[in-house]
Amino acid sequence: MSFHFAEQLTAKLSDALSRTDFSGDLPEGFRAKIDQTQNRQFGDYQSNAAMILAKELKRNPREVATAIANAFDGGELCEKPEIAGPGFINFRLKTAALTAKLVQLIADEEHLGVTPVASPKTIVVDFSAPNVAKPMHVGHIRSTIIGDCLTRVARFLGHHVITDNHIGDWGTQFGMILWGWKNLLDESALKADPIPELLRIYREVNAKTKEDAALLDLCKSELVKLQQGDAENLAIWQRCVELSKQGLQKIYDRLDVTFDHWFGESYYNDRLAPLVDELIATGVAEASEGAICVFFRDNEKLADKPALIRKSDGGFLYATSDLATIDFRISELGAEAIWYVVGAPQQLHFDQIFSISARRGQTADLQFVPFGSILGKDRKMLRTRSGDTVQLADVLSEAVDRAMLIIEEKNPDLPANEKTEIAEVIGIGSVKYAELSQFRMTDYIFDWDTMLSLKGNTAPYLLNAYVRTRAIFRKLGSPYETGGSLTLTEEAEKDLLLKLAQFAEIVPAVLDDFRPNSLAAYLYEVATTYHQFWEACPVLKVEGEIRQTRLALCELTGRVLRCGLGLLGIRTTEKM
Ligand code: ARG
Repeated sequence: MSFHFAEQLTAKLSDALSRTDFSGDLPEGFRAKIDQTQNRQFGDYQSNAAMILAKELKRNPREVATAIANAFDGGELCEKPEIAGPGFINFRLKTAALTAKLVQLIADEEHLGVTPVASPKTIVVDFSAPNVAKPMHVGHIRSTIIGDCLTRVARFLGHHVITDNHIGDWGTQFGMILWGWKNLLDESALKADPIPELLRIYREVNAKTKEDAALLDLCKSELVKLQQGDAENLAIWQRCVELSKQGLQKIYDRLDVTFDHWFGESYYNDRLAPLVDELIATGVAEASEGAICVFFRDNEKLADKPALIRKSDGGFLYATSDLATIDFRISELGAEAIWYVVGAPQQLHFDQIFSISARRGQTADLQFVPFGSILGKDRKMLRTRSGDTVQLADVLSEAVDRAMLIIEEKNPDLPANEKTEIAEVIGIGSVKYAELSQFRMTDYIFDWDTMLSLKGNTAPYLLNAYVRTRAIFRKLGSPYETGGSLTLTEEAEKDLLLKLAQFAEIVPAVLDDFRPNSLAAYLYEVATTYHQFWEACPVLKVEGEIRQTRLALCELTGRVLRCGLGLLGIRTTEKM
């Protein structure tokens, strides 16, 4: 098992603390933290432990820092620490330690220094989950991209991840769809492209009901017939779901997103009545004005927000089916954790069902992973020119068309089929990267020009950096070969190596607070650091050990970029 630099330094730092004269006075469970520095001028890592301890011990911070630095044994790893400013302790790694790391990383082709988690968990990731026959809105785009990324990272770290597309295939929208299907359907349009046709009838009926209250009643009675098992309505419903799934599958294929299951809300229909009975019997739920509710009387946040789980007309709700889903995932999928990647407006819903789950004694670790909105350039909700919700399929096609323009300009002589493939990688990658490079709670602005720019923190910039790492081996005429001794000499080489070594520190941290954007920011730094190395250090013009070292750095940069982009769900291309 290998440790990354931050872990090694943390261990040495706690060692040093145990050797200081105040080792007996450390606060309970005190763990000194080591941070990466922004600029290697001040060392490679830094700790503010002395400042925190000085406050606790009522001593001078620089004095505490000096005591720690004197007790610190850097061994082969780092030089004697330096004290800076009000009491920061700065650590500089020894060149030999950096070189040894390069040797170790280039040999670790699969994990690039990332250590798998010590105790893998079974995690169900609930993401994407659009509603059948209703527009898949931009919120579903965010959920799909973020959920897929978290899945990839968790799997890379060794967790057992089960992805479940909890589609809304049993909502009240089916009342309108059923009526529309029977009265407005254009069969040939449905055959040609089902999702837009289903959407059209949903929208049309929805609009009509606004003016025609009687129609709303007709839709409701279609819904009731469906819920009571009417054969004709069930058959229509089933076809709608089937067609929608096929349409969605095409989008997921294009996005390179896969699901282990698509149980969907309807899967739990038969489990809802017994579940509500059980909740009443165990005293979790109670009758209230003819309906069945769960009250959260001793929960300050939810005290005045009971969850409705059965309506007075006997109908069940979104919350009821989510509770049944938790049971199923725990007992039949073996879930120890469930992550819900769903828009922030559903916070209350998840607070409620998590609280009910806890009251029932379930111990699975339930995590709500919310996200904000995508805005148009006018800072309002993203809409099409005609004012409709933006469709994911259209976004992807436009992204690929626009990426094609870049390739036509940059590399017009490529064969047409290669261009098509590369445009797909850049277009889809740009949409994903625009999403993942933002903190998920940020309402970000969807802007084609920024996301497809070759400059800045964008997918094309990162893909271009990757392409450059590959081009050097094409020029060399052979792929990277291990062997020969390596030696780091220039600062630009050390900067790059340190950055690459930090992949092992960044990847696990993505799951701490579900922040793919920290990985994106890191990859951007890798690309810029590589660029600086490239400017400062000729590779093919030098010989021997220095050339071999630089080739290793190029190869490793390529691997880190490819693997890191892969964790974001972004494919790479060898040329662009
Ligand atoms: N279909 C829901 C929506 O579009 C999202 C479902 C999220 N998952 C869940 N288990 N509730 O709002």
